[in-house]
Amino acid sequence: SGYEKGVKHLCEKGHIRSVPKKYILPVADRPTKRVEDSNALNQNLQLPIIDFAELLGPNRPQVLQSLANACQQYGFFQLVNHCISDDVIRSMIDVSGRFFDLPLEERVKYMTTDMGAPVRCGTSFSQTKDKVLCWRDFLKFLCHPLPDFLPHWPVSPVDFRKVVGTYAEETRHLFLAVMEAILESLGIMEKEEEENVMKEFEKGSQMMVANFYPPCPEPELTLGMPPHSDYGFLTLLLQDEVEGLQVQYQDKWVTVQPIPNAFVVNVGDHLEIYSNGKYKSVLHRVMVNEVKSRVSVASLHSLPFNCTVKPSPKLVDDEANPKRYMDTDFATFLAYVSSHEPNKKDFLESRK
Ligand code: SIN
Ligand code: FE2
Repeated sequence: SGYEKGVKHLCEKGHIRSVPKKYILPVADRPTKRVEDSNALNQNLQLPIIDFAELLGPNRPQVLQSLANACQQYGFFQLVNHCISDDVIRSMIDVSGRFFDLPLEERVKYMTTDMGAPVRCGTSFSQTKDKVLCWRDFLKFLCHPLPDFLPHWPVSPVDFRKVVGTYAEETRHLFLAVMEAILESLGIMEKEEEENVMKEFEKGSQMMVANFYPPCPEPELTLGMPPHSDYGFLTLLLQDEVEGLQVQYQDKWVTVQPIPNAFVVNVGDHLEIYSNGKYKSVLHRVMVNEVKSRVSVASLHSLPFNCTVKPSPKLVDDEANPKRYMDTDFATFLAYVSSHEPNKKDFLESRK
């Protein structure tokens, strides 16, 4: 039927002792796990931590400065003390895990090669284009406006719509608050522009991706996700207690330590463009391991799909900050990146 049934199914079919050939990366692309390989891994570094409660308090100016540093240097930070309850967070991880626990017959209902489907279950990174498959199954679904999309969502597990609906709304509000702080950190405070942009974000797109990575018999030969950057403005990522996500920093990979109930937030390509290159959309990848399965949930936020993304006029001037990116309509950008994923940065560069 034209699509792969995924790595979970593969593992369930029989005891897997080695990684099938189509998952084995060329030597140069394999993850380096060995502790002694100090060239590839940065062991001691941690992502900056931003305290959301503090951002809303009297120390906002200092926190905005930390936020700006994080977005410029790392393109990533961990967000703690946000207003989403532990219960909502735990339930989201839990229901995602239970979705992937469903029998294949149930999940196969959402497997389609139609990239435009509002709900899509799949495997690998880009199944139709990956030369080597990735050790990952996913469920992607659109979230905003909720009444348009919720009726398309899975009805199994029985509490899926309720749990995910609450989670989607709360994450969207958190995104809006963080985005407002990011605009402020970029110096975009002039009421008019800030309000206009925030109005667009309120109508903006939100896509959720739940990921499942089964244990892998030979984790050094494959990846859960290849190095990539995210397309939107911001991604709010939830990971369970199993590590796997790595972020590129000064040409080395930094493992993101799971912090219970924290969000890993990262700058996407659209924010890189909007900030005229000040904030960076940074490469990241996912490692798998031999022992534990891993669940993560990414919420990708951007402008409405019919919008044009371009550098903010406030951040462009003829002398010090010439415009670095051309105006890019979202549809063209998405169509391009979905067929040229590994060379997305070249596209961004060529659009200067
Ligand atoms: C990503 O969405 O790029 C990372 C997901 C993960 O940490 O599993
Ligand atoms: Fe990503």
